[in-house]
Amino acid sequence: MVADEGAVDLELDRAHSARMYDYFLGGTTNFPADREGAGRAMAAFPAAMVAARANRQFMHRSVRHLTRLGMRQFLDVGTGIPTSPNLHEIAQETAPGARVVYTDNDPIVLAHARALLHSSPEGRTAYAQGDARDPQAVLKTPELHDTLDLGEPVALSLIALLHFIPGDRTAHDIVEHFKEALPSGSTLTISHVTPDFDPETIARVIQSYVASGTPTQARTRAEFTRFFDGWELLDPGVTVTHRWRPDAAHDIYQVTDAEAACYAAVARKP
Ligand SMILES: C[S@@+](CC[C@H](N)C(=O)[O-])C[C@H]1O[C@@H](n2cnc3c(N)ncnc32)[C@H](O)[C@@H]1O
Repeated sequence: MVADEGAVDLELDRAHSARMYDYFLGGTTNFPADREGAGRAMAAFPAAMVAARANRQFMHRSVRHLTRLGMRQFLDVGTGIPTSPNLHEIAQETAPGARVVYTDNDPIVLAHARALLHSSPEGRTAYAQGDARDPQAVLKTPELHDTLDLGEPVALSLIALLHFIPGDRTAHDIVEHFKEALPSGSTLTISHVTPDFDPETIARVIQSYVASGTPTQARTRAEFTRFFDGWELLDPGVTVTHRWRPDAAHDIYQVTDAEAACYAAVARKP
């Protein structure tokens, strides 16, 4: 189901992070203002496309791993413009009955959400327009309740989302709110831009996003790790996106930590 099918203002005159990310991934759902914004980001951080792809591949591997560990319910907040394979396609490869709820606050994602709804017949997917800064509202959406059982473990993913929520109290409070709402056995997957490997470059790219109208904040390893407080990190713990359970050892050497520029981890609620 798609929530709110009314007309939406896509704000094509300004760069949006979802459409810039789509451009970095080689997608076609982006407009001149987004490509200008992406160009400014790439002038500051030439590896932006490498970082976006390493992040997306982390999503693929983490979902595959969680599905193999038995997770069957997924809540993906900050989904982005559909880019196949989407999360449900990966999960349903291993577990056709997997149920997935997607949510994002960008109207362009809502406009393209139908691509997220082609579930396997055994499973189910839903899209709910929602703002991660209001976790209570996201957790109350009818699409979520019709699709997921919050009494059973849920794999929550906040992938390449939280750097768009500046302010340490805000971002950490939001994550805590989601964590509290989920039962034991649930998991939390996060990836996040970090300044740790090349502070000057990351400061410049953050500045380019802020100048395009997107508040953005990179976080250090300690700030990133704090999102998982009280939960048990799954092997290999906190690492850089391309190093998180790579498919082949060789893959690690294709990208440097400074190019990937994002921490990644998955943890389980005790
Ligand atoms: C870089 S994309 C990541 C997409 C996807 N999670 C991935 O990693 O492939 C970030 C997404 O977060 C969304 N986003 C940013 N702030 C948000 C908020 N406050 N609530 C919900 N979504 C948000 C953007 O619209 C965008 O689609």
